[in-house]
Amino acid sequence: MSKKALGRTLPMMGLPVAVIGAKVQGRPNFCTIAWVTMIDDEPPKMAVVMGKERRTKDGILENRTFSINLPDVGAAAAADHCGLVSGYKEDKSNVFDVFFGKTLTAPMARECPVNIELTLDEIIEREGTDIVIGEVEEVYVDENRMTAGQPDIDKLQLLMYLSSGALYFTKGKTVAEAFKVGKDFRPR
Ligand SMILES: Cc1cc2nc3c(=O)[nH]c(=O)nc-3n(C[C@H](O)[C@H](O)[C@H](O)COP(=O)(O)O)c2cc1C
Repeated sequence: MSKKALGRTLPMMGLPVAVIGAKVQGRPNFCTIAWVTMIDDEPPKMAVVMGKERRTKDGILENRTFSINLPDVGAAAAADHCGLVSGYKEDKSNVFDVFFGKTLTAPMARECPVNIELTLDEIIEREGTDIVIGEVEEVYVDENRMTAGQPDIDKLQLLMYLSSGALYFTKGKTVAEAFKVGKDFRPR
């Protein structure tokens, strides 16, 4: 493979789309985040990278709870809207049909087939962005998107984002089974 150097830039990568929910001054607010990751499994923790000016982050600090909602392809326009418009400029409390879970203050979007409810663990303040870490309190999945008691990726149709390509997509064909396909691999 001959390589072309693209410079000091972020690479094109497929990332999950997450809609972050928080209650700000009594009203639900949602913002779209593609820089999201799991960081621990016991206890389960997740992190999102947020710019300095995010109204949703104000709500996370206010109530110390938030949600990570995973939209499906049908929620692409609503998710895009939450990423285009800031709650500082426009009220986004009616974008989704909101429900609350055990924390009582983390608004979740019923239209998203997966909702993760978190309590704030830590915010790591950096120069350009802040890393918001939350501990997972509950995960809710649309019952109709499950097979044999497990979330079914083909039924979920989760929305993904191609960074620098600026496209939304969803899962294509399955390539191989993780933690299995490499078992017989031998380096040259
Ligand atoms: C596809 C997409 C991905 C985005 N990813 C991020 C992200 O990872 N981090 C971030 O801070 N903002 C991200 N944004 C921008 C925020 O969603 C946007 O600034 C939003 O208006 C913030 O809303 P708020 O001020 O109401 O919280 C993304 C927007 C889009 C459309």
